Amino acid sequence: MAEFNEVYARAGYYDIAFNRDISREVEFVFGEYKRLNNRPLQSLLEIACGPGYHARAFAKQGVETFGLDLRPEMIDFARDKAKEDGVDVHWMAADMRAFSLPHPVDAIITMYDSLDCLADNDDIVAHFRAVASWLTPGGIYLFELTHPRDCSPHGYGNYVYCGERNGTKVEIKWAVNNPRHDAFTQVAEVETILRVVENGKETLYRDKARERYLTPQELVALTKLAGSFRVVECYGDFIQGLRMDNSPQSRRMIFVLQKIL
Ligand SMILES: C[S@@+](CC[C@H](N)C(=O)[O-])C[C@H]1O[C@@H](n2cnc3c(N)ncnc32)[C@H](O)[C@@H]1O
Repeated sequence: MAEFNEVYARAGYYDIAFNRDISREVEFVFGEYKRLNNRPLQSLLEIACGPGYHARAFAKQGVETFGLDLRPEMIDFARDKAKEDGVDVHWMAADMRAFSLPHPVDAIITMYDSLDCLADNDDIVAHFRAVASWLTPGGIYLFELTHPRDCSPHGYGNYVYCGERNGTKVEIKWAVNNPRHDAFTQVAEVETILRVVENGKETLYRDKARERYLTPQELVALTKLAGSFRVVECYGDFIQGLRMDNSPQSRRMIFVLQKIL
């Protein structure tokens, strides 16, 4: 599992490097749910929520919201931020392959490549089944992954994320070992360095995790294997009607599934 313990256990530093505007993504989820169900979205679970950017944004708009992450440190951080924002979210530290909610929800989302932590097909199918079991009929599952052009067995790419807040500088260099996805397992051993400069002192945290590359057609097949879903669309961005393809406008791989059984 791509646990990246050193990075994800330091939620405050993660937030400095990765905090971003996600309003367009939230509007897209609202739109997709309404388009497919002809009624407004009322409840949502964000899986692998990290600091809970999306969960907090949905809660702000009156949606009954749940946020789930494997790392209790992320959940504690997200809870504190929600308190600061004055919004109510039900937080839980749990694994995305097996979790439970008090009741099914209208939408479940997993953003920002968080699905690539599931390396085996069995884990992915277990995850899809867990998601389906907590969706209301007609409910949607939306997950966002990197476009295959940018990260695949043909090249992983280099990624640096930086931020600064109240004098603390954070830099996260992803994939410093120039990893390659194994040709058969499609799993890459990815090394990452978290660099923090705080009170004039530099600290480096080295981290390592396994990440799975998933082709679009594998995702379609694994969805079918899991049952309960139909694939509504694979989008290239958070833009209605923009299908994922090879065009430059198509920048991400965003699946929308709908629960049919
Ligand atoms: C790339 S971060 C994404 C965080 C957040 N969704 C965002 O948009 O910034 C991936 C998150 O997945 C979580 N994670 C990794 N494996 C997980 C698992 N098996 N179950 C639940 N969460 C997991 C990590 O703890 C981390 O917070």
